[in-house]
Amino acid sequence: MSRHFAVFGHPVAHSLSPKIHAAFGKQTGIAIDYRAIDVEPGQLTHALADFIAQGGAGANVTLPLKQAAFSLCDDLTERARRAGAVNTLVRNGDTWHGDNTDGVGLVRDLTDRHALDLRARRTLMLGAGGAARGVAPALLDAGIGELYIVNRTPQRTDALADALAEPGRVHPRYLADLPALGEFDLIVNATSAGRDQPMFSLPRAVVGRRCAAVDLNYGEAAIPFMAWARASGCMAAVDGLGMLVEQAAESFARWHGVRPETDAVFAMLHGHAAALVTAD
Ligand code: ATR
Repeated sequence: MSRHFAVFGHPVAHSLSPKIHAAFGKQTGIAIDYRAIDVEPGQLTHALADFIAQGGAGANVTLPLKQAAFSLCDDLTERARRAGAVNTLVRNGDTWHGDNTDGVGLVRDLTDRHALDLRARRTLMLGAGGAARGVAPALLDAGIGELYIVNRTPQRTDALADALAEPGRVHPRYLADLPALGEFDLIVNATSAGRDQPMFSLPRAVVGRRCAAVDLNYGEAAIPFMAWARASGCMAAVDGLGMLVEQAAESFARWHGVRPETDAVFAMLHGHAAALVTAD
């Protein structure tokens, strides 16, 4: 039976992952069968059983199923365990092995593609949901300085700070405290606010002299935060498209044993516009 791959999500029709994996397959000469499968929350176990019966060998999992995927894995990588979320499933005999490539994808995009030195950057994370959980451990491992987390729902801020288990370096704070938190060198928008609702207001005072702003969203959902970052004088404003391509390359490597080259695929998706915008 040929090996099948897929991305599970809800909704998922808009996903760029089938296009990205097809391009990686073409580049590496590996025949890829990768499709998007829409799965209602609560139906992931069932959908994966069908997928296995058809030859499913690996899958990506996207919103809102990453925590459900985490729960059904038989074993996990350390980074998936720390994130509490799985975006990559690898079939291993009769079991599912879970990994999370989002964080390493983000760090690789920022450091390699955008040449940002993350070390010692005083960092503000907006949001404490699944996306924030996926990337926070990798940012800490990449050597950022102190990490301040602010979220609309304070309980989630506290839960994420507790899970990261680095008191003294990770600081949960209230949204109302934002104007008093000082200047940051890196601001990460890990909220889903831009997808369907207006972004909450951010004081310009949080923008430091060499501040880079990063939105984990891409496309239209990233427009409000990218616009705020440019208007507020951030040195760089990077959306989540590069992270998407890099996390896909990590997943591809897990399944096929070859890490594809990502620049051409990023350029294809991005058209001729540069993702890194320098305010002048
Ligand atoms: P994801 O997996 O994309 O992170 P999620 O786990 O539902 O999705 O988390 C969404 C994040 O965006 C949360 O931090 C959420 O804040 P709450 O925890 O308070 O819900 C944040 N968010 C969504 N809409 C928002 C808005 N309009 N203003 C501020 N934060 C918002």
